[in-house]
Amino acid sequence: MSLATVDSARQARPRERAANDWYVEPEWAVRGLLDVQRFSGLVWDPACGKGTIPRTFKAAGHAAAIGTDLVDRGYGRGGSDFLAIDPAHDANRAANIVSNPPFNLAEHFLRHALKLATHKIAFLLRLSWLEGRGRAWIFNETPLAAVHPFAARVSMPPGTVAQEAKGGAVAFMWAVWDWSHPVGAPPILRRIERKPE
Ligand SMILES: C[S@@+](CC[C@H](N)C(=O)[O-])C[C@H]1O[C@@H](n2cnc3c(N)ncnc32)[C@H](O)[C@@H]1O
Repeated sequence: MSLATVDSARQARPRERAANDWYVEPEWAVRGLLDVQRFSGLVWDPACGKGTIPRTFKAAGHAAAIGTDLVDRGYGRGGSDFLAIDPAHDANRAANIVSNPPFNLAEHFLRHALKLATHKIAFLLRLSWLEGRGRAWIFNETPLAAVHPFAARVSMPPGTVAQEAKGGAVAFMWAVWDWSHPVGAPPILRRIERKPE
């Protein structure tokens, strides 16, 4: 079966997901985050895949950007299970964690990132991720500071597909947690206006 785009209406059922949820965001979607958020200090993507996020940060002049991943995909350090990283060691912490986390583990990634990031966390997630009674803890118990939907659709093809897909059936957002934002206070809503490049 072809895996053209996440949740494509043309996909057969039952839906088959890419191994380890390796779906790759376009660089413009990362530049879109930089349009609306500032980061100081180290930026770490613990699910970096082929490195789209740290590469884009570096290209934008943010030199301190690194990546790790469970699987070695040719960027940063492979063989690193983010969920197994011990937050008790200061050396494992970073100022910022910025990632497109594996969708099926996104809540676990958030819980862990809250222990490891000292300043900000930015996750690229489906907009619908905000729904659900089970996710009330994200609004009540975390410093969710900003929600950034995209004006344009972000396509997110599997990393094994060479060509960049256009458009997409799923709405995505950047959600940002900031330890300077009071826990439980309402997040700001600011749309990313950048167009696909
Ligand atoms: C949505 S993709 C991120 C794509 C990436 N931004 C890129 O440029 O290729 C999710 C990534 O999470 C990785 N992953 C899955 N489980 C993981 C874990 N427990 N720890 C670290 N990385 C994991 C996958 O190998 C995959 O590369």
